[in-house]
Amino acid sequence: MKTIIITGATGAMGWEVAKIMIHRGNTVIATCRNEEKAQKLAAQLSPEELQQLQWMTLNIAEQQSIADFVERIAALQTPIDMLFNNAGTLPGQFSVNSEGMEMTYATNYWGTRQLTEQLLPYMAPQGSIVFTSSLSCYFSNRKRCFEPFKGPNYRPLFVYANTKMALTLYAQELAKQQPRLHINCTDPGIVDTPLFHMGKWYDDIASQGLSLFAKRPVQGVVPAVRALDTTLTGHLFRGASRNTYSNNYGYPRMLRP
Ligand SMILES: NC(=O)c1ccc[n+]([C@@H]2O[C@H](COP(=O)([O-])OP(=O)(O)OC[C@H]3O[C@@H](n4cnc5c(N)ncnc54)[C@H](OP(=O)(O)O)[C@@H]3O)[C@@H](O)[C@H]2O)c1
Repeated sequence: MKTIIITGATGAMGWEVAKIMIHRGNTVIATCRNEEKAQKLAAQLSPEELQQLQWMTLNIAEQQSIADFVERIAALQTPIDMLFNNAGTLPGQFSVNSEGMEMTYATNYWGTRQLTEQLLPYMAPQGSIVFTSSLSCYFSNRKRCFEPFKGPNYRPLFVYANTKMALTLYAQELAKQQPRLHINCTDPGIVDTPLFHMGKWYDDIASQGLSLFAKRPVQGVVPAVRALDTTLTGHLFRGASRNTYSNNYGYPRMLRP
């Protein structure tokens, strides 16, 4: 039985991976921002399954919240076998965290990086860390992706793409620095989840359009589950094709974003 931390486990793909890991007999430490949402999801599980699940609050965009979470992990005195960095955001409006850092950057790249680095001492030898990348990296600005967006002209998708590129490049570097661990990225492809709800009038129409060609969350997580299980390091596990049965679905490639 392994111990896995899943960030953003109240999200569509985070919760799918949490259920898969529980069904495989693992212990899941699932992070959430909204405890009510977490309890509604937990109600789907049997009493036996619930014993394998522990919710902990974490706002990955806030340094204090990360520090509090890491302190609780340290107190468990249990080596962490897998860390699935799944939490991510695509805000429709420009917003900042309590330090004034743009929210997409603070969540998708900076907070995820801070959390990972603070958890490194608690990872089991040969443990596995997976970062969630994105197809959007293809239209990012690779040279400037490590700079937080400061404005003007906030373009949500472009800012999002840059944060995912920064995270992917960081994962590649960390894989080289930490040869004792298996460090990889997953790209789920385009998946029908609430990520694309931007608080706009056209959200419902966009969601209906998306459902015509996007994958379901249970399909989107196939590469992530493969990446969590792998003994490889420095790879990108892609699920870009909608065809779950295609030869390369969810299988690794070298991490060269
Ligand atoms: N959907 C796609 O097509 C797609 C494609 C490529 C990559 N991805 C990536 O896949 C990951 C999962 O997204 P999803 O599609 O499953 O969307 P989702 O259902 O919206 O899940 C996102 C999760 O991240 C959590 N989160 C957001 N900001 C956070 C913060 N500051 N602190 C802690 N948790 C936070 C959300 O928490 P709440 O539940 O509290 O909102 C939610 O649980 C994300 O990293 C996303 O960028 C998605």
